[in-house]
Amino acid sequence: MAKVIVDAQAARAIGKGAMIVFKKGVVRTEGEIRPGDIAEVYTRGGKFLGRGFINPNSNIMVRLITQDEHTEVNKELFRERIRRANEYRKKVLGYDKAYRMVYGEADYLPGLIVDRFNEIASLQISSIGMERFKFDVAEAIMEAEPEIETVFEKNTGRSRRREGLPEIERVLLGREKYRTVIEEGKAKFIVDMRGQKTGFFLDQRENRIALEKYVKPGMRVLDVFTYTGGFAIHAAVAGADEVVAVDKSPWAINMVKENAKLNGVEDRMKYVVGSAFQVMEDMIKRGEKFDVVILDPPAFVQHEKDLKRGLRAYFNVNYAGLQLVREGGILVTASCSQHVDMQAFKDMVIAAAAKAGKFLKLLEPYRTQAPDHPILMASKDTEYLKALFLYVEDIK
Ligand SMILES: C[S@@+](CC[C@H](N)C(=O)[O-])C[C@H]1O[C@@H](n2cnc3c(N)ncnc32)[C@H](O)[C@@H]1O
Repeated sequence: MAKVIVDAQAARAIGKGAMIVFKKGVVRTEGEIRPGDIAEVYTRGGKFLGRGFINPNSNIMVRLITQDEHTEVNKELFRERIRRANEYRKKVLGYDKAYRMVYGEADYLPGLIVDRFNEIASLQISSIGMERFKFDVAEAIMEAEPEIETVFEKNTGRSRRREGLPEIERVLLGREKYRTVIEEGKAKFIVDMRGQKTGFFLDQRENRIALEKYVKPGMRVLDVFTYTGGFAIHAAVAGADEVVAVDKSPWAINMVKENAKLNGVEDRMKYVVGSAFQVMEDMIKRGEKFDVVILDPPAFVQHEKDLKRGLRAYFNVNYAGLQLVREGGILVTASCSQHVDMQAFKDMVIAAAAKAGKFLKLLEPYRTQAPDHPILMASKDTEYLKALFLYVEDIK
Protein backbone atom coordinates (compact mmCIF):
# COMPACT_ATOMS: atom_id res chain seq x y z
CA MET A 1 0.00 0.00 0.00
CA ALA A 2 1.33 3.46 -0.91
CA LYS A 3 2.46 5.74 1.90
CA VAL A 4 2.01 9.49 2.15
CA ILE A 5 4.23 11.44 4.55
CA VAL A 6 2.78 14.79 5.65
CA ASP A 7 4.20 17.89 7.33
CA ALA A 8 3.52 18.91 10.93
CA GLN A 9 0.71 21.32 10.00
CA ALA A 10 -1.22 18.66 8.06
CA ALA A 11 -0.63 16.17 10.89
CA ARG A 12 -2.01 18.66 13.44
CA ALA A 13 -5.11 19.24 11.30
CA ILE A 14 -5.74 15.47 11.09
CA GLY A 15 -5.22 15.27 14.86
CA LYS A 16 -8.08 17.77 15.27
CA GLY A 17 -10.35 15.67 13.08
CA ALA A 18 -9.69 16.94 9.52
CA MET A 19 -10.27 14.17 6.97
CA ILE A 20 -8.61 15.82 3.98
CA VAL A 21 -4.91 15.96 3.12
CA PHE A 22 -4.06 18.73 0.69
CA LYS A 23 -1.18 18.30 -1.76
CA LYS A 24 0.65 21.24 -0.19
CA GLY A 25 0.88 19.36 3.14
CA VAL A 26 2.53 16.29 1.58
CA VAL A 27 6.30 15.95 2.16
CA ARG A 28 6.81 12.82 0.03
CA THR A 29 5.15 9.61 -1.12
CA GLU A 30 6.44 6.05 -1.07
CA GLY A 31 5.40 3.15 -3.29
CA GLU A 32 3.34 3.05 -6.46
CA ILE A 33 0.46 5.52 -6.50
CA ARG A 34 -2.56 5.09 -8.76
CA PRO A 35 -5.56 7.42 -8.60
CA GLY A 36 -8.33 5.89 -6.48
CA ASP A 37 -6.11 3.47 -4.55
CA ILE A 38 -6.10 3.26 -0.78
CA ALA A 39 -3.04 4.88 0.79
CA GLU A 40 -1.79 5.29 4.35
CA VAL A 41 -0.80 8.62 5.82
CA TYR A 42 2.09 9.03 8.28
CA THR A 43 3.95 11.81 10.07
CA ARG A 44 7.63 12.39 9.27
CA GLY A 45 8.40 10.43 12.43
CA GLY A 46 6.46 7.38 11.17
CA LYS A 47 3.28 7.77 13.25
CA PHE A 48 0.13 6.36 11.53
CA LEU A 49 -2.44 9.12 10.90
CA GLY A 50 -5.01 7.45 8.72
CA ARG A 51 -6.02 5.52 5.64
CA GLY A 52 -7.96 6.82 2.67
CA PHE A 53 -8.38 7.35 -1.08
CA ILE A 54 -5.47 8.89 -2.90
CA ASN A 55 -5.55 10.95 -6.06
CA PRO A 56 -2.15 12.41 -7.01
CA ASN A 57 -3.82 14.46 -9.76
CA SER A 58 -6.08 16.35 -7.37
CA ASN A 59 -5.34 19.21 -4.96
CA ILE A 60 -6.96 17.06 -2.31
CA MET A 61 -4.38 14.31 -2.37
CA VAL A 62 -5.89 11.99 0.25
CA ARG A 63 -9.46 11.77 1.51
CA LEU A 64 -9.19 9.94 4.80
CA ILE A 65 -11.71 7.25 5.56
CA THR A 66 -10.37 6.13 8.91
CA GLN A 67 -7.88 7.31 11.50
CA ASP A 68 -7.95 3.90 13.16
CA GLU A 69 -5.02 1.70 12.20
CA HIS A 70 -7.07 -1.49 12.60
CA THR A 71 -10.00 -0.49 10.37
CA GLU A 72 -9.88 -1.92 6.85
CA VAL A 73 -11.40 0.04 3.98
CA ASN A 74 -13.80 -2.27 2.15
CA LYS A 75 -17.45 -2.53 1.11
CA GLU A 76 -18.54 -3.79 4.56
CA LEU A 77 -17.16 -0.58 6.09
CA PHE A 78 -19.12 1.56 3.62
CA ARG A 79 -22.27 -0.48 4.20
CA GLU A 80 -22.01 0.09 7.96
CA ARG A 81 -21.32 3.81 7.57
CA ILE A 82 -24.27 4.29 5.22
CA ARG A 83 -26.52 2.47 7.68
CA ARG A 84 -25.31 4.70 10.53
CA ALA A 85 -25.63 7.89 8.48
CA ASN A 86 -29.24 7.01 7.66
CA GLU A 87 -29.99 6.13 11.27
CA TYR A 88 -28.58 9.49 12.45
CA ARG A 89 -30.98 11.37 10.14
CA LYS A 90 -33.98 9.33 11.25
CA LYS A 91 -33.39 8.64 14.92
CA VAL A 92 -31.39 11.67 16.08
CA LEU A 93 -32.61 14.37 13.68
CA GLY A 94 -36.14 13.03 13.23
CA TYR A 95 -36.30 13.19 9.43
CA ASP A 96 -38.74 10.93 7.67
CA LYS A 97 -38.92 10.68 3.88
CA ALA A 98 -36.80 13.47 2.36
CA TYR A 99 -33.36 14.24 3.73
CA ARG A 100 -29.67 14.17 2.98
CA MET A 101 -28.77 10.62 3.86
CA VAL A 102 -24.99 10.94 3.41
CA TYR A 103 -22.91 14.12 3.43
CA GLY A 104 -19.36 13.15 2.49
CA GLU A 105 -16.69 13.51 5.13
CA ALA A 106 -19.27 14.50 7.78
CA ASP A 107 -20.35 10.84 7.59
CA TYR A 108 -16.81 9.50 7.08
CA LEU A 109 -17.73 8.82 3.46
CA PRO A 110 -15.54 11.25 1.52
CA GLY A 111 -16.65 12.06 -1.99
CA LEU A 112 -20.16 10.66 -1.52
CA ILE A 113 -23.42 12.57 -1.28
CA VAL A 114 -26.80 10.85 -1.11
CA ASP A 115 -30.14 12.64 -0.96
CA ARG A 116 -33.26 10.61 -0.29
CA PHE A 117 -36.58 11.66 -1.80
CA ASN A 118 -39.15 9.07 -0.69
CA GLU A 119 -38.50 5.93 -2.75
CA ILE A 120 -35.66 7.48 -4.79
CA ALA A 121 -32.09 8.08 -3.65
CA SER A 122 -29.99 10.45 -5.73
CA LEU A 123 -26.24 10.06 -5.32
CA GLN A 124 -23.24 12.10 -6.35
CA ILE A 125 -19.68 10.79 -6.28
CA SER A 126 -16.81 13.24 -6.50
CA SER A 127 -13.81 11.07 -5.66
CA ILE A 128 -12.17 8.54 -7.90
CA GLY A 129 -11.75 6.14 -4.97
CA MET A 130 -15.46 6.17 -4.08
CA GLU A 131 -16.33 5.68 -7.77
CA ARG A 132 -14.85 2.16 -7.57
CA PHE A 133 -17.36 1.30 -4.84
CA LYS A 134 -20.43 2.85 -6.44
CA PHE A 135 -22.43 -0.34 -7.01
CA ASP A 136 -21.67 -1.48 -3.46
CA VAL A 137 -22.80 1.95 -2.26
CA ALA A 138 -26.05 1.70 -4.22
CA GLU A 139 -26.80 -1.70 -2.72
CA ALA A 140 -25.97 -0.43 0.77
CA ILE A 141 -28.39 2.51 0.33
CA MET A 142 -31.26 0.16 -0.53
CA GLU A 143 -30.34 -2.11 2.34
CA ALA A 144 -30.19 0.78 4.85
CA GLU A 145 -33.60 2.10 3.79
CA PRO A 146 -35.82 -0.65 2.34
CA GLU A 147 -38.41 1.91 1.08
CA ILE A 148 -35.86 3.05 -1.51
CA GLU A 149 -36.57 1.42 -4.87
CA THR A 150 -34.35 3.49 -7.14
CA VAL A 151 -30.78 4.73 -6.81
CA PHE A 152 -30.18 7.50 -9.31
CA GLU A 153 -26.63 8.46 -10.20
CA LYS A 154 -26.37 12.25 -10.64
CA ASN A 155 -22.69 12.22 -11.37
CA THR A 156 -22.23 15.55 -13.10
CA GLY A 157 -20.50 18.81 -12.28
CA ARG A 158 -17.24 20.58 -11.74
CA SER A 159 -15.91 18.50 -8.83
CA ARG A 160 -16.21 15.38 -10.96
CA ARG A 161 -14.34 16.88 -13.87
CA ARG A 162 -11.62 18.03 -11.43
CA GLU A 163 -11.12 14.39 -10.32
CA GLY A 164 -10.91 13.26 -13.94
CA LEU A 165 -14.20 11.33 -13.73
CA PRO A 166 -16.76 11.06 -16.57
CA GLU A 167 -20.17 12.72 -16.24
CA ILE A 168 -23.04 10.21 -15.96
CA GLU A 169 -26.73 10.73 -15.23
CA ARG A 170 -28.88 7.57 -15.05
CA VAL A 171 -30.65 5.08 -12.82
CA LEU A 172 -27.83 3.05 -11.29
CA LEU A 173 -29.90 0.44 -9.49
CA GLY A 174 -33.58 -0.47 -9.21
CA ARG A 175 -36.69 0.85 -10.97
CA GLU A 176 -36.45 3.43 -13.75
CA LYS A 177 -37.94 6.41 -11.92
CA TYR A 178 -36.97 10.08 -11.96
CA ARG A 179 -39.70 11.96 -10.13
CA THR A 180 -41.46 12.01 -6.81
CA VAL A 181 -43.42 14.48 -4.64
CA ILE A 182 -42.03 15.47 -1.24
CA GLU A 183 -43.62 17.42 1.61
CA GLU A 184 -41.85 20.30 3.31
CA GLY A 185 -43.63 22.36 5.96
CA LYS A 186 -46.97 23.37 4.43
CA ALA A 187 -45.68 22.96 0.87
CA LYS A 188 -45.26 20.10 -1.57
CA PHE A 189 -42.59 19.86 -4.25
CA ILE A 190 -42.05 17.69 -7.29
CA VAL A 191 -38.43 16.56 -7.20
CA ASP A 192 -36.99 15.59 -10.57
CA MET A 193 -33.58 13.92 -10.22
CA ARG A 194 -32.58 15.31 -13.62
CA GLY A 195 -32.60 18.87 -12.27
CA GLN A 196 -29.67 20.71 -10.67
CA LYS A 197 -27.43 19.04 -8.06
CA THR A 198 -29.20 15.90 -6.77
CA GLY A 199 -32.54 17.29 -8.00
CA PHE A 200 -33.46 19.56 -5.06
CA PHE A 201 -31.69 21.89 -2.59
CA LEU A 202 -32.47 20.16 0.70
CA ASP A 203 -29.97 22.37 2.56
CA GLN A 204 -32.39 25.33 2.60
CA ARG A 205 -35.35 23.33 3.91
CA GLU A 206 -35.48 24.77 7.45
CA ASN A 207 -34.91 28.28 6.08
CA ARG A 208 -37.76 27.88 3.58
CA ILE A 209 -40.04 26.65 6.37
CA ALA A 210 -38.91 29.58 8.57
CA LEU A 211 -40.12 31.96 5.86
CA GLU A 212 -43.72 30.79 6.26
CA LYS A 213 -44.23 32.69 9.53
CA TYR A 214 -43.22 36.06 8.02
CA VAL A 215 -45.50 35.91 4.97
CA LYS A 216 -49.12 37.05 5.37
CA PRO A 217 -52.10 37.61 3.09
CA GLY A 218 -51.84 40.93 1.26
CA MET A 219 -48.09 40.64 0.78
CA ARG A 220 -46.08 40.81 -2.44
CA VAL A 221 -43.02 38.53 -2.49
CA LEU A 222 -40.04 38.31 -4.84
CA ASP A 223 -37.99 35.07 -4.95
CA VAL A 224 -34.81 35.59 -6.97
CA PHE A 225 -32.82 32.47 -7.96
CA THR A 226 -35.96 30.47 -7.20
CA TYR A 227 -34.89 27.15 -8.87
CA THR A 228 -38.07 25.01 -8.73
CA GLY A 229 -39.83 27.56 -6.53
CA GLY A 230 -38.32 26.68 -3.13
CA PHE A 231 -39.05 29.88 -1.21
CA ALA A 232 -41.69 31.12 -3.66
CA ILE A 233 -44.08 28.19 -3.15
CA HIS A 234 -43.76 28.48 0.65
CA ALA A 235 -44.60 32.18 0.39
CA ALA A 236 -47.66 31.48 -1.75
CA VAL A 237 -48.82 28.65 0.50
CA ALA A 238 -48.41 30.99 3.51
CA GLY A 239 -50.94 33.31 1.86
CA ALA A 240 -49.05 35.98 -0.13
CA ASP A 241 -51.23 37.80 -2.67
CA GLU A 242 -48.55 37.78 -5.34
CA VAL A 243 -45.25 35.90 -5.63
CA VAL A 244 -42.78 36.61 -8.40
CA ALA A 245 -40.33 33.76 -9.08
CA VAL A 246 -37.16 34.54 -11.05
CA ASP A 247 -34.58 32.13 -12.48
CA LYS A 248 -32.42 32.04 -15.57
CA SER A 249 -33.30 28.39 -16.21
CA PRO A 250 -36.47 27.86 -18.29
CA TRP A 251 -36.53 24.22 -17.08
CA ALA A 252 -36.57 25.41 -13.45
CA ILE A 253 -39.35 27.95 -14.10
CA ASN A 254 -41.47 25.24 -15.74
CA MET A 255 -41.02 23.22 -12.56
CA VAL A 256 -42.15 26.24 -10.49
CA LYS A 257 -45.33 26.26 -12.59
CA GLU A 258 -45.88 22.57 -11.93
CA ASN A 259 -45.22 23.05 -8.21
CA ALA A 260 -47.63 26.01 -8.10
CA LYS A 261 -50.35 23.81 -9.60
CA LEU A 262 -49.56 21.00 -7.18
CA ASN A 263 -50.04 23.39 -4.25
CA GLY A 264 -53.12 25.09 -5.73
CA VAL A 265 -51.48 28.55 -5.75
CA GLU A 266 -51.01 29.16 -9.49
CA ASP A 267 -53.42 32.12 -9.51
CA ARG A 268 -51.06 34.06 -7.21
CA MET A 269 -47.77 33.27 -8.97
CA LYS A 270 -45.83 35.19 -11.62
CA TYR A 271 -42.77 33.86 -13.41
CA VAL A 272 -39.73 35.51 -14.97
CA VAL A 273 -37.06 33.64 -16.93
CA GLY A 274 -33.97 35.83 -17.05
CA SER A 275 -30.76 37.01 -15.48
CA ALA A 276 -31.36 38.09 -11.89
CA PHE A 277 -29.17 41.17 -12.30
CA GLN A 278 -31.09 42.42 -15.35
CA VAL A 279 -34.51 41.50 -13.97
CA MET A 280 -33.90 43.34 -10.69
CA GLU A 281 -32.46 46.38 -12.46
CA ASP A 282 -35.60 46.61 -14.62
CA MET A 283 -37.82 46.27 -11.55
CA ILE A 284 -35.91 49.06 -9.75
CA LYS A 285 -36.34 51.30 -12.81
CA ARG A 286 -40.08 50.62 -12.76
CA GLY A 287 -40.18 51.55 -9.04
CA GLU A 288 -41.44 48.12 -7.97
CA LYS A 289 -41.54 47.26 -4.26
CA PHE A 290 -42.04 43.99 -2.39
CA ASP A 291 -42.87 43.11 1.22
CA VAL A 292 -40.37 40.25 1.14
CA VAL A 293 -37.38 39.71 -1.17
CA ILE A 294 -35.46 36.39 -1.15
CA LEU A 295 -31.98 36.11 -2.65
CA ASP A 296 -30.50 32.61 -2.88
CA PRO A 297 -27.86 32.76 -5.62
CA PRO A 298 -25.51 29.97 -6.72
CA ALA A 299 -22.05 29.93 -5.11
CA PHE A 300 -20.36 33.05 -6.51
CA VAL A 301 -17.05 32.05 -4.89
CA GLN A 302 -15.88 28.63 -6.06
CA HIS A 303 -12.21 29.10 -5.10
CA GLU A 304 -10.54 31.20 -2.46
CA LYS A 305 -8.77 33.21 -5.16
CA ASP A 306 -12.18 34.40 -6.44
CA LEU A 307 -13.25 35.79 -3.06
CA LYS A 308 -13.02 39.47 -3.96
CA ARG A 309 -14.85 39.09 -7.28
CA GLY A 310 -17.48 36.83 -5.72
CA LEU A 311 -18.13 39.21 -2.83
CA ARG A 312 -18.66 41.98 -5.39
CA ALA A 313 -21.32 39.81 -7.10
CA TYR A 314 -23.03 39.20 -3.72
CA PHE A 315 -22.86 42.95 -3.04
CA ASN A 316 -24.50 43.80 -6.38
CA VAL A 317 -27.30 41.26 -5.88
CA ASN A 318 -27.97 42.43 -2.31
CA TYR A 319 -27.79 46.12 -3.18
CA ALA A 320 -30.40 45.51 -5.90
CA GLY A 321 -32.54 43.33 -3.63
CA LEU A 322 -32.52 45.94 -0.84
CA GLN A 323 -33.79 48.61 -3.22
CA LEU A 324 -36.77 46.39 -3.99
CA VAL A 325 -37.81 45.87 -0.35
CA ARG A 326 -40.47 48.32 0.81
CA GLU A 327 -39.97 50.35 4.03
CA GLY A 328 -40.59 47.90 6.89
CA GLY A 329 -40.22 44.85 4.63
CA ILE A 330 -38.01 41.76 4.86
CA LEU A 331 -34.88 40.63 3.05
CA VAL A 332 -33.91 36.96 3.18
CA THR A 333 -30.40 36.63 1.81
CA ALA A 334 -28.20 33.55 1.51
CA SER A 335 -24.78 32.41 0.37
CA CYS A 336 -23.76 28.81 -0.26
CA SER A 337 -20.08 29.65 -0.91
CA GLN A 338 -17.94 27.83 1.64
CA HIS A 339 -15.15 30.38 1.16
CA VAL A 340 -17.40 33.23 2.33
CA ASP A 341 -17.72 33.01 6.10
CA MET A 342 -20.56 34.56 8.11
CA GLN A 343 -18.49 37.64 9.03
CA ALA A 344 -17.57 38.35 5.41
CA PHE A 345 -21.20 37.77 4.39
CA LYS A 346 -22.50 40.14 7.07
CA ASP A 347 -19.92 42.81 6.15
CA MET A 348 -21.04 42.58 2.52
CA VAL A 349 -24.73 42.97 3.43
CA ILE A 350 -23.95 45.89 5.77
CA ALA A 351 -22.06 47.65 2.96
CA ALA A 352 -24.92 47.03 0.50
CA ALA A 353 -27.43 48.39 3.04
CA ALA A 354 -25.34 51.52 3.66
CA LYS A 355 -25.24 52.21 -0.07
CA ALA A 356 -28.99 51.62 -0.39
CA GLY A 357 -29.68 53.87 2.64
CA LYS A 358 -31.19 51.00 4.66
CA PHE A 359 -31.09 50.05 8.30
CA LEU A 360 -31.17 46.30 9.03
CA LYS A 361 -32.37 44.32 12.04
CA LEU A 362 -31.70 40.62 12.39
CA LEU A 363 -35.08 38.84 12.58
CA GLU A 364 -33.91 35.26 13.05
CA PRO A 365 -30.78 33.90 14.74
CA TYR A 366 -28.02 33.39 12.17
CA ARG A 367 -29.18 30.52 10.02
CA THR A 368 -27.19 27.85 8.21
CA GLN A 369 -27.68 24.57 6.34
CA ALA A 370 -30.21 21.95 7.47
CA PRO A 371 -28.81 19.60 10.16
CA ASP A 372 -28.85 16.61 7.81
CA HIS A 373 -25.87 18.39 6.17
CA PRO A 374 -23.83 18.14 9.39
CA ILE A 375 -21.19 20.72 10.23
CA LEU A 376 -18.01 19.08 11.52
CA MET A 377 -16.64 21.34 14.21
CA ALA A 378 -13.05 20.58 13.14
CA SER A 379 -13.64 21.08 9.43
CA LYS A 380 -14.46 24.57 8.22
CA ASP A 381 -15.19 23.16 4.75
CA THR A 382 -18.36 21.45 5.98
CA GLU A 383 -19.95 24.76 7.07
CA TYR A 384 -21.00 26.52 3.90
CA LEU A 385 -24.53 27.90 3.97
CA LYS A 386 -25.41 31.24 5.54
CA ALA A 387 -28.88 32.77 5.58
CA LEU A 388 -29.95 36.06 7.13
CA PHE A 389 -33.55 37.12 7.74
CA LEU A 390 -33.45 40.92 7.94
CA TYR A 391 -36.03 43.59 8.73
CA VAL A 392 -35.40 46.52 6.40
CA GLU A 393 -36.06 50.18 7.24
CA ASP A 394 -34.99 53.41 5.55
CA ILE A 395 -32.21 55.26 7.37
CA LYS A 396 -33.93 58.24 8.97
C1 LIG B 1 -28.92 27.80 -5.02
S1 LIG B 1 -30.05 27.61 -6.32
C2 LIG B 1 -31.51 28.26 -5.58
C3 LIG B 1 -32.27 27.25 -4.76
C4 LIG B 1 -33.68 27.65 -4.39
N1 LIG B 1 -33.71 28.87 -3.63
C5 LIG B 1 -34.38 26.55 -3.64
O1 LIG B 1 -34.76 26.76 -2.47
O2 LIG B 1 -34.60 25.48 -4.21
C6 LIG B 1 -29.57 28.88 -7.41
C7 LIG B 1 -30.46 29.09 -8.64
O3 LIG B 1 -29.99 30.28 -9.30
C8 LIG B 1 -30.17 30.12 -10.70
N2 LIG B 1 -29.27 31.10 -11.34
C9 LIG B 1 -27.92 31.03 -11.46
N3 LIG B 1 -27.45 32.16 -12.00
C10 LIG B 1 -28.51 32.95 -12.22
C11 LIG B 1 -28.66 34.27 -12.78
N4 LIG B 1 -27.61 34.97 -13.17
N5 LIG B 1 -29.89 34.78 -12.84
C12 LIG B 1 -30.98 34.08 -12.44
N6 LIG B 1 -30.89 32.84 -11.92
C13 LIG B 1 -29.67 32.28 -11.82
C14 LIG B 1 -29.90 28.66 -10.96
O4 LIG B 1 -30.57 28.26 -12.16
C15 LIG B 1 -30.48 28.02 -9.69
O5 LIG B 1 -31.79 27.61 -9.93
